[in-house]
Amino acid sequence: DGYTASRVMGQGYSYTYDDIILLPGYIDFPTEEVQLSTRLTKNISLRTPCVSSPMDTVTEAQMAAAMAVQGGIGIVHYNMGLQEQAHLISKAKTFRAGFVSEPACLKPSDTIAQVDQIKLSKGFSSVLITENGQIGSKLLGIVTSRDIDFVSDRFTEVRDVMSMDLVTAPEGCTYEDASNSLISSKKSLLPIVRETGEVVELLCRTDIKQQRDFPALGTPSLGSDGKILVGAAIGTREGDKKRLEMLVNVGVNVVVLDSSQGDSIYQREMLAFSKRAYPELDVIAGNVVTSYQARNLIEAGADGLRVGMGSGSICTTQEVCAVGRGQATAVYKTAGIAKQMGVPVIADGGIANSGHIVKALVLGASTVMMGSFLAGTAEAPGDYFFQDGRRLKKYRGMGSLEAMTKGSDVRYLGDKSKLKIAQGVSGAVADKGSVMKLIPYTMHAVKQGFQDLGFRSIEAAHDGLAQGQIGLEVRTGAAQAEGGVHHLVSYEKRSF
Ligand code: XMP
Repeated sequence: DGYTASRVMGQGYSYTYDDIILLPGYIDFPTEEVQLSTRLTKNISLRTPCVSSPMDTVTEAQMAAAMAVQGGIGIVHYNMGLQEQAHLISKAKTFRAGFVSEPACLKPSDTIAQVDQIKLSKGFSSVLITENGQIGSKLLGIVTSRDIDFVSDRFTEVRDVMSMDLVTAPEGCTYEDASNSLISSKKSLLPIVRETGEVVELLCRTDIKQQRDFPALGTPSLGSDGKILVGAAIGTREGDKKRLEMLVNVGVNVVVLDSSQGDSIYQREMLAFSKRAYPELDVIAGNVVTSYQARNLIEAGADGLRVGMGSGSICTTQEVCAVGRGQATAVYKTAGIAKQMGVPVIADGGIANSGHIVKALVLGASTVMMGSFLAGTAEAPGDYFFQDGRRLKKYRGMGSLEAMTKGSDVRYLGDKSKLKIAQGVSGAVADKGSVMKLIPYTMHAVKQGFQDLGFRSIEAAHDGLAQGQIGLEVRTGAAQAEGGVHHLVSYEKRSF
């Protein structure tokens, strides 16, 4: 039944994930036996095939740390100065799992209205009160919702309502010791303080509960330095050589050469430079969508290939430049040659659900890179805001005018003109809660997909696809509609 991938993909159509459907196989093992461990690059392995995209509304230190804790990896964007990016890499690498390194802080003369504002934009319902309103300053008290629920004058200073009866733990304490003392204290927060009284981080009861209910997927992704794996994006200009040096100095584990069309003299030169200067560092090149481009970059030294052009949820490249490829076809066509040459493929863009991840991994990708899927989580940069009764976070393309104004136009290689042509848009996505829940749920769904197909691992599915053991079909428009929710009357209260 069904057709082989080579037949479906050899018909001259550009297919997206939604265009195709995989036919089920035979199940003779439980979901738990599915193993999603994989390779990001020639030399870097991951337990979870998930990568967060180098976008300024997706990956900074917190996202990178969370992705690594879940067994994946985050690629910190470079729409910022070199020092700032190097600082974010160091911060992510020294992240202590379970602790909040940047808790909300106010000073005693700040008001309850400012606590309200923090709750709205960050979602934190407690605020530490420190001498100068910053982390690293002397801890004076805590304001939780219980302290302010019934205070009608929101301009009351926090010094008049804060609780000063605090239980704290010493700097450097282990997660186990800190969580035990928080649980027995029956408080909701445990500030970690230096001997001299300055607060350095925080442990929250809600995070301990989350860790209990949604334990991370095994051990974090760790590098040979014993610290968590963190990646960073760079460009291909002269100044990026200095950026690369700074990133290597702070221990970055992998770099991504970030271009919308990666098969260029600029990437080849940067690959050659990096291989000469830092032979130990793995470099991911791209983006590419054809086997010809893939071969070129691999021959130029790429250790991983990033695949996708114009398939991202915020991308307009295909409309603006008429160039790109349907993402399912792009992954399949590049993965064939990449496999022969021993380089893993990252399917970048267009992931909107766990089914898309299954399709990407079966069609030849070793990992998926996600932007919109991870935007709107608690770990994504930026504040929440409310619109039409919904809690949202900003998400924007790195080729949007808004992002380019900050410098990301270097993605669009070699363009020295003053005219900025947007190849992406800005918008917002709904609050998705924490990556710590989203990734475990999503990976469980992906495992169920592999089980339905009858394959226990990504590697086995790649071989199965090549040997024609996985049947594919193209879905008609009606079949796609049937595959989604249909003929259901929504009874959700509409907010407009
Ligand atoms: P998703 O679908 O996960 O896609 O939101 C994220 C990927 O989209 C790419 N990207 C862009 N592509 N214009 C583009 O054509 C843009 O402004 C833009 N910004 C990001 C990028 O590959 C990312 O990983």
